[in-house]
Amino acid sequence: MTDPQATATREIIGDLMRQDARIAPKYFYDACGSALFEDITHLPEYYPTRTERAIMATHGAAIGRKVSAGGTVIELGAGNCEKARTLCKLIRPARFVAVDISADFLHEAAAGLRAAFPGLDFHVVVADLTAELAMPSDLPWQHRLVFYPGSSIGNFDPPAALDLLSRIRRLVAEDGGLLIGIDLQKEVAVLEAAYNDAAGVTAAFNLNVLNHVNRLTGSDFALHQWHHRAFFNTTESRIEMHLEATTDTRVTWLGGERLFHCGERIHTENSYKYRIEDFIELLDSAGFHNAEAWTDEKRWFAVILARP
Ligand code: AVJ
Repeated sequence: MTDPQATATREIIGDLMRQDARIAPKYFYDACGSALFEDITHLPEYYPTRTERAIMATHGAAIGRKVSAGGTVIELGAGNCEKARTLCKLIRPARFVAVDISADFLHEAAAGLRAAFPGLDFHVVVADLTAELAMPSDLPWQHRLVFYPGSSIGNFDPPAALDLLSRIRRLVAEDGGLLIGIDLQKEVAVLEAAYNDAAGVTAAFNLNVLNHVNRLTGSDFALHQWHHRAFFNTTESRIEMHLEATTDTRVTWLGGERLFHCGERIHTENSYKYRIEDFIELLDSAGFHNAEAWTDEKRWFAVILARP
């Protein structure tokens, strides 16, 4: 048996010991982090969630007409299942599979969705998208639509994004599809404000990963010794989030330790910002073709429907 917590601990400590220390962004989402992320989506500076919702409000009916009813929707990173409600009203699937890494949060949100759509055959899959995507074994293959909203694909660097999109491709048959939200390149000031909000919620979200890591690995990160940093890396076209030590600090865990010097950083997240053409090319390489894109009038965000 492989103990998932032992695997997580090994992975996290390996990443902390690297010269360029990092923590994988999936560790943001303990119960507290999932709630903080939800708060982020309501911030005035954080435009992606609101803009994607506006695109769905304007173009949802058109998108719905391109997808057959009575199939299966598989939502990746379902979170609070709020987007699922809108989508279910638009396309009336027979089955819904909510996939997310945060078990507690997902089960709670799923209960709400079950109540809202009593006829829907509802499944919950707790999974890490960086690992294998296993669907319930009795899930029909016909008319599967994978829904991956929120620009969460932005967390993956291009090779990893291609790998994930290729694995998503293998979840659907020839009559299936992928509906995905991506964040677009735009003025740097707008991008940076979205990850440096005035209320400090993104900072709290970033720092909370240390609480989660402390619980998982038994480490003793002191949150007040770390500072939130977020900036746009133009060369890589991504927002980077880091935690920066505000003092020399020794962090210990069972069987190990590391000294971080004042100013040293732990890289916690990348959030890639795409050009629509480039993302469509990536989809093409993954085996998704005939992509159609819908955007808002500022062209800040795009919702793309692609087919095998
Ligand atoms: C959930 C990955 C889409 O990249 O914008 C928000 C996460 N991090 N603020 C993003 C996030 C900081 C978010 N995604």
